[in-house]
Amino acid sequence: MTRAVWGSRQGFILSAAGSAIGLGSIWKFPYVTAQNGGGVFLVLFLAMAFTFGFFIMISEMVVGQISQKSPVGAYRYFGGKVWSIVGFIGVLCGFLILSFYSVVGGWTIFYIVNSFDSTFLTSNVAELKQVFDGFIMNPITPLLYHGVFMAMTVGIVLFGIQKGIERISKLLMVMLFLLILVLVARSLTLPGAFDGVYHFFMPDFSKLTAGMILEAMGLVFFSLSLGMGCMMTYGSYLPDENNLANSASWVIGLTVMICILVGLVIFPATFSLGFNPTEGTGLTFIVMPAIFSQLGGGQFFSILFFFLLFVAALTSSVSLLEVVVSFFIDEFHLPRIRISIISSFVMLILGIAASLSLGIWKEHTFFGKNIFGLLDYMTSNIMMPLGGIMVSLLVGWIAWAAVKTRLVNSGMPVFKLSVMKVFCRYVAPLLILVIMLQNL
Ligand code: PHE
Repeated sequence: MTRAVWGSRQGFILSAAGSAIGLGSIWKFPYVTAQNGGGVFLVLFLAMAFTFGFFIMISEMVVGQISQKSPVGAYRYFGGKVWSIVGFIGVLCGFLILSFYSVVGGWTIFYIVNSFDSTFLTSNVAELKQVFDGFIMNPITPLLYHGVFMAMTVGIVLFGIQKGIERISKLLMVMLFLLILVLVARSLTLPGAFDGVYHFFMPDFSKLTAGMILEAMGLVFFSLSLGMGCMMTYGSYLPDENNLANSASWVIGLTVMICILVGLVIFPATFSLGFNPTEGTGLTFIVMPAIFSQLGGGQFFSILFFFLLFVAALTSSVSLLEVVVSFFIDEFHLPRIRISIISSFVMLILGIAASLSLGIWKEHTFFGKNIFGLLDYMTSNIMMPLGGIMVSLLVGWIAWAAVKTRLVNSGMPVFKLSVMKVFCRYVAPLLILVIMLQNL
């Protein structure tokens, strides 16, 4: 069977950016930043995105490209059987993430549908909070939307991703970007907006805690789709030379830019409307409709925004499912259709548990977290960073000769290469480990 390949270099960058930009940047980034003291967290996030994020992304892409395999096969290619376990953990991680990701993806559909109803447009954030809480705690409605979102994800993966998603996401990502610019303009001109900007940008280092560093690292892994083999899988569809350092910079640059712009929408509006930004998972879903109510044509923008959020989430969920599916195809030669349906069914069930854990199963907690929170914490703060350690070690110690040749040929300057070697061998594994251990 010949391996699928990307249509073009741009196609590859855009699909990787499509995987990275999603609920992580638009839903998770603002509320996690708010809960962790604003500016100080932003500094940590940016610093880690451009260091760990950069080298780990290149590492994953190049390992995928050389081996032409999805994670399990890629680790085995370089390190033998024992290393392939790391790939398995990545696949498992994809399973766990997609199950709760799809629940939130379902929320975006609910918000599109409800945006057609103008009673939803109010600047009364207390009321909007009630709508949000009432919805996510409901034992039935969110499950239906979760099912619809999962079905759409499978629908795309079933038919192969290149033709559909590569083309659609190009257009929609541009639209998302333009719309966010409009929203930034509106949000910044609300009365009292500056307090929000100040909170978002001004680091108050006296607030810094070890927990924050771990959260920032987890968010970098999550929002750049790193540490679980996604970029490796996408790299494996790259047949040949490609300026990987440059591609990785593009993906990271675009993702970080969206994060910052979204922050510039959410924080000013939150402060202006007197809403508490540390509210948590509802932040985007509560504050956005409030901003739309302040805009001419708010209803239209509301529909458009939630639609674009939905698309951004979909291009990410597709990449999550693709990791799982390509594993079963590569390792067991199972048909794409069958394995897409079976694996998404398992995720659907797990996602139901995650959704119910926000409402009627609230009392069932593990390590002080409900199922939803636990899935999120385990994947972002444990499994993905561990994956990051392992891919760094693999590249730094085992695969270095091959990786170096490939990167030299693709035009990476010698200086950057030496930095990367030291980073992968020592800095990344040690630092990630220390950050993780500090939290025990
Ligand atoms: N990066 C995606 C987002 O921010 C989530 C994701 C994680 C996708 C891991 C693929 C792999 O929404």
